[in-house]
Formats: sequence, C-alpha cells, structure tokens
Amino acid sequence: MTPDSSAHFEDAIRSALAASGGRRDRLVQILRQVQDRTHWLPRPVLARIAAGVGLTPAIVEGVASFYRFFHLEPVGRMHLLWSDSVTDRLQGSRVLARELCRRLGIEPGQVGADGLVSVDFTSCTGLPDQGPALLVNHHQVLTRLDHERVAQLADLVRAQVQPASWPAEWQRVDDNVQRADRLLGTRRLQGSALRAMLARGTEATLAEIEASRLRGRGGAGFATGTKWKLARTAPLPEGGSRFVVCNADEGEPGTFKDRVLLTRRAHTMVEGMTVAARVLGARQGFIYLRGEYRWLLESLEAVLARRRAAGLLGSRILGVTGFDFDIEIHLGAGAYVCGEESALIESLEGKRGVPRIRPPYPVVQGYHGQPTVVNNVETFCAAALIAERGGAWWAAVGTGQSTGTKIHSVSGDVERPGVYEFPFGITVREILDAAGAGCGAGLHAVQAVQVGGPSGLCLAENEFDRRIAFEDVPTAGAFTVFDDTRDMFEVARGYAQFFAHESCGFCTPCRVGTELIVRRMDKLAAGYGSGFDEAELRELEALLHGATHCGLGASAANPLRDTLARFPAAYKRRLVQPRFVPAFDLDAELEPARRVTGRDDAAAHLERLG
Ligand SMILES: Cc1cc2nc3c(=O)[nH]c(=O)nc-3n(C[C@H](O)[C@H](O)[C@H](O)COP(=O)(O)O)c2cc1C
Ligand code: SF4
Repeated sequence: MTPDSSAHFEDAIRSALAASGGRRDRLVQILRQVQDRTHWLPRPVLARIAAGVGLTPAIVEGVASFYRFFHLEPVGRMHLLWSDSVTDRLQGSRVLARELCRRLGIEPGQVGADGLVSVDFTSCTGLPDQGPALLVNHHQVLTRLDHERVAQLADLVRAQVQPASWPAEWQRVDDNVQRADRLLGTRRLQGSALRAMLARGTEATLAEIEASRLRGRGGAGFATGTKWKLARTAPLPEGGSRFVVCNADEGEPGTFKDRVLLTRRAHTMVEGMTVAARVLGARQGFIYLRGEYRWLLESLEAVLARRRAAGLLGSRILGVTGFDFDIEIHLGAGAYVCGEESALIESLEGKRGVPRIRPPYPVVQGYHGQPTVVNNVETFCAAALIAERGGAWWAAVGTGQSTGTKIHSVSGDVERPGVYEFPFGITVREILDAAGAGCGAGLHAVQAVQVGGPSGLCLAENEFDRRIAFEDVPTAGAFTVFDDTRDMFEVARGYAQFFAHESCGFCTPCRVGTELIVRRMDKLAAGYGSGFDEAELRELEALLHGATHCGLGASAANPLRDTLARFPAAYKRRLVQPRFVPAFDLDAELEPARRVTGRDDAAAHLERLG
C-alpha cells in the first residue's frame, strides 16, 4: 500500500465500521463494503478491521479467506468474473473467456501489469437463461456475451472506460416469464395478506398455512406450517427473540427463479416474511442475498423503504401496537454452501459459512442461538398468498403430497428458456414441450434433463413421463435440458468440478472425495481411463452418499451416479486402457530427489527397475 492508498483504505474501513456500528456479526458486510472501494483486502486492512470489531486478525483473515468473492491478493481495478456453469459452457463461455484474455493480453486468474484488469471464473451467476454472462467488480452483470461484445468489451477496458458507461443493453436482465400461475400470475401484495391475517388472527393464519400443506421450495420440502409452529413454540431464553430469514442465496447451478421473484414479487416475499414474523412474534428479519445478485440490492432496499413508508414494515405495522418487524439485507460473498440454512446463519453472524452440527435445528437454536425460521424466497411468496386467500385455495392444485405450484428455471437446449410456473404433478415431458425443447429449428432431440440442479436428478428420455412432485421427482427449481449432441460425461465432469470448488472443506469425505472424483474424471477425459478408474468412481460415489456432514457432500456425486447409470456409453468409450495407468508420472515426480542426491543411475529410476 502506498501512503495515498493507505488513506483511501483507512477511509473505506472507517465508513464500513461506522455503518455497521463496529458489530462483529456484521463482519462479512464490513469486508464487502471495504473491498467495494479497495478492490482487495491486504493483511494490514484485515488487521485494522479486526481491531475495529474486537476480533483477532487471525479470525478476520479466516473469515475473509473462506469467501471466494474476497480477495486477499490484488485483482484488477476492473475484475471480470465469467459465470462458469455447465450451461454457460454449452453457450461457449470458455471460448469467449479465452478470447477476452487474449485481447487483453492476460491469463485467467492473473492481473495485468498495470493493475487495470483481471479475468477469472466463478460458479453459476444465476443467468443461464441469458448467458454467457459475467460479473464486473462483483456488482454489475453483463449478459448474452458473444464475440462481438467481447471484442468491444476488450476495447472499452483498454481505453479505461468505466463499467457504468458501458452499453446499457449489455447489462439488460430479462425476467423471461414464460408461464405464470398462482405466484407469478397474482399481482404483488402490498398489505392485503397482512390485513387478512390481522382480521383472521395469528393462530388461524398459522392453521391456514398448515392446511395448505405448503412445503419448502428450497429443496428439502419441509412442511412450512410445522416449521413456523416449531419456531413459535421453541423456548425463548430470558431477553431473547425469534428471527425470520429469507434464503435468497440461490446458488444451485441452473436455478434462477428466485432472481425473477426478487425482481417481480419482492413485495409479496417481504409480506410473507412479515406474516411469519407475526406468527412467530419476531421483530427482526434478514434477507440473505447471494453476492452474485448484488445488482438487485438497490431495488430490494427500495422495496423495504417503500413498505416502511406505507406502514407495512417497521414499528406499529398497519397501526397495530406491538406489531414491529424490520428487515436487513445481508449480502453473501460467493459461497454456495451458505445456501445451507445453518451455514447461512453462521454467515449472518459474521463467521465462515461452515454448516453446523444438527440438531439443534435453527427453529430451536438459529441466529445467535435463538429460534429462527429460514425459508426460501418462493416459500415466503406462497405463504403470503395463503395468508390472503386461505389454505384450501393453495391446496386446490397440485398432488396429494405436493400442493400448489412450483416455479421451474428452464435453460439449456430449449427454444424458450425462462421461468415456468406449473402446478405440481406436471410431467417432465410437458415442461419440455412448453419450452420448445427438441422441436425448434436447429434443435436436436432431448437426451437428458437435470432436474433440481446437480444436487437433484438427471433423467433420461425414458423417464420424461415422470411427475414433478415430492413423491416422484422433487426439485428446488432448476430444469436444465441437454440435447443428444451433448456429452453427458462432460456435463457430469462440469458438475463434479463445481462441487469440488464449493466444498467448504470441513469434513474429509467431501473435501477429498469431491477432489478425487474430479481427478478420476480428468484422467478419463485425458484418455488414460481403465475399468479400474470406473470402479474407483463408483466407490467414491458410495462414500460421498453416506459419510458427509451436510447436504452438499451428500449430493455431490449425484450427477456421477445418475450419468453412470443412464449414460454408461459416455464412460465406456473413455475406458481405453486395458490396464490401470497411474494418474500421474511417478518416475517424473522423483526427479527433484534425483537432482538433490546427484543420482541418475538405473536404481534411481522406477521405469528402469525390472
Ligand atoms: C449445499 C446446500 C445449498 C442450499 N442452497 C439453498 C439455496 O440457495 N436456497 C434455499 O432456499 N435453500 C437452499 N438450501 C436448503 C436450505 O438448507 C433450507 O432447507 C431451505 O432454505 C429451507 O427453506 P424452505 O423450507 O422454504 O425450503 C441448500 C441446502 C444445501 C445443503
Ligand atoms: S459435506 Fe462438504 S460442504 Fe458440507 S460440511 Fe462437509 S466439507 Fe463442508
């Protein structure tokens, strides 16, 4: 740091600490705010922040190093992060990224000599319906990138034109609502659900949520009414409070329906959170917004401000004494595991996002050890509508165990990517037909659909009549389509890389297992695979399914499991070696030892030993 930059860094630290009141549970936000101005977080800055919040520098560095969006090494003043999901790759993102680097004269992961620009990759940015996409300085997004845009982008960067002045069209994000039903088809709620709740009473409102048999839309499908009831009745320590948290982390590759709800139905979502707060008696709520959706922050803050001004949030909501509830937005920083509810709570408390040992569950001991409800964006939207219209209205569509509608984020090889809201019970084939999969000009027959993202299920053509429902094919919302030109081994390898990249490293089976899967698959891809490697992959898959601490590890081998079972030919054609071939050259690894010992005789070479 130069003296000039020191003053600039100090100013950034002071204002971030002042904005957070120096609270250590705001640490992740403080780090973000400082880095927004300084581009990276040198050690002295971390030490200064540590002093400001009363933590040791080691703890602060430990937190900062956990999140991929925090840079402990310099990055460019313009830091460009390519979305690197499987669908981005299908759309040619890797080729475009290489081209951009070539035009800028840098390698991915490196900073140019003048410190102007750096280019790197990140996991899915939630824009697969309009990719390839990239993030600029963790703030703006660029969508629909192609060769022409990449060439112009390189020119603008080299000319040091600031991102705010780049063509607005590049930053356009479409909602792509292709089919609306109960959630997307109903106007946004601005108080009607709260009024209905107050008229009906809190107990009766909870009864309606239970009667609706609404199940969480974040993946696990836990009954929302039961969750709220558990948090409402959990013992409260002296002076304690209950909390409501909206999980807007949406990190599952291929999922973007929460992005659309946050854009179109933020009022409804906040109304659902406020209903939950009344049921629980909570006074404080949080929206945990994924760092990749930083560009939505201002519009969400505006929604909260409008609701405060309209008496729908804050003190004495709708004039009712004692009905006080407000919401803070907490930005994530590029860690998929923080979507797991206990990791999310750790992050909200300013810590590394490592999942907690459960039980106790968050409904009993969540945020700062207090009863906490964590629900997905879509769940809160549904809850608001149920509070307004009643449980029977919601349960009138869907199936026995899966009431209401579900929003699907459809992307990949389809004519019309976007969000599709259908009642539960719809078949995979019906969604494919609606999205124009396999039937448009230049489109090929559909080979596979990844339902629920890589943590979900990969289905082959003979399973397309299966139904989307918790009792058949459950989903958190991703619906990624692969036509018969796609190599399902490469699809599974891309997902394996994702999980290895996102493993938080807390437990060995996940940390090591995900990495070993990638290495084995890389070996197959490089043409050195044998039957031994396939057997190893099967063993690793079994290990991961039974021995990990959280759901990330438990589902990390799902794409491998499903593609091995359904597309064995994609693996078999890579098993070209009759015998086992090591994944690395053991003899070459001994070279440094030979140099140090000055030996080059036959006995010092494995290959020359008989
Ligand atoms: C690795 C991992 C990532 C997750 N990511 C999300 C997410 O981005 N959004 C979400 O709502 N739930 C996510 N979940 C599920 C949450 O842990 C939790 O079940 C959910 O937020 C509860 O809300 P719901 O009952 O409304 O579904 C994730 C779970 C795991 C294991
Ligand atoms: S399973 Fe993976 S992500 Fe989950 S706690 Fe273990 S290492 Fe972390």
